[in-house]
Amino acid sequence: MDAAKFIEDAVAEIRGEVGDGKAINALSGGVDSSVVTVLAHQALGDRLRTLFLDNALMREGEPQRVARIFADMGIPVELLDARKEFLDALAGVTDPEAKRQAITSTFYEKVFGREVKRSGATFLLHGTILTDIEETVAGIKRQHNILAQLGIDPEEAYGYKVLEPLRTLRKDGVREVARAAGLPGEIAERVPFPGPALATRIVGEVNEQRLATVRAATAIVEEELDDTGAFQYLAVLLADRATGIRDGRREFGQIIVVRCIDSTDAREATVRELPWETLHRITERITGEVPGVNRCLYDLTPKPPATIEYV
Ligand code: XMP
Repeated sequence: MDAAKFIEDAVAEIRGEVGDGKAINALSGGVDSSVVTVLAHQALGDRLRTLFLDNALMREGEPQRVARIFADMGIPVELLDARKEFLDALAGVTDPEAKRQAITSTFYEKVFGREVKRSGATFLLHGTILTDIEETVAGIKRQHNILAQLGIDPEEAYGYKVLEPLRTLRKDGVREVARAAGLPGEIAERVPFPGPALATRIVGEVNEQRLATVRAATAIVEEELDDTGAFQYLAVLLADRATGIRDGRREFGQIIVVRCIDSTDAREATVRELPWETLHRITERITGEVPGVNRCLYDLTPKPPATIEYV
């Protein structure tokens, strides 16, 4: 792929579609939405409004990190605190598809939809990539950002048109474009992180307490595995519990699964054979530092038959 040519075409396409109208996009800090933000900013300048939505499902320090990177590039990003709305929508929901649906509708119909109407923007830019479309069409999983492919016309349903400039690329292609567009390595090489964020790593109800647990475990896993260069590494909170002993007393604790996989495009993945000492250290830290967790498991399942995330 010729990344420079891709950028040129995408910028021209965005300009052509939006004309002298206004566009809006949501930045999550992942490579896909970051590339869209840079391309759209290049195409539209201050006719683009970029929002960073704090949906309560982010990793530790994520909003601050993203704000800093884009401020350094001179691209304005507005931080919107939508934590309560997402948590309210997720309360009591345990079915994985119902959780994804709750996040999708809170995102489109409530928080983001409201901002789009307020801003007068008639175009919404999305970081949908080819793999998202294929998996949604195949019914493997409903990606939060797919509408047209499901027969939902966003113009009719929500009053805006969706532009998806990355729809022909896979993750490796997006990274190439990210580097060519001048995004820092910290973003271009960023480990994939799903839009519905930590909610894809919590089996069962997503609430503040369970988010705090998986967030703390995620921080440990990322710290310990950042230098592996693996495609993705993550922590998952299960809905089951297990007995354990702490300070001589019996407890009924939480279970964290650690996953570390290699892949090029997320369609298939193999499990990384981590050194025993690394697995020991992660287990010791997670069971010692994350309150309430007394078991740590390593997932040996490739994709397929498993998916990478759990929800
Ligand atoms: P799975 O678990 O389906 O994940 O094997 C494949 C890749 O996609 C990411 N992922 C998502 N990305 N919206 C996204 O933008 C989503 O709803 C979503 N679900 C999973 C996942 O992190 C992995 O890289």
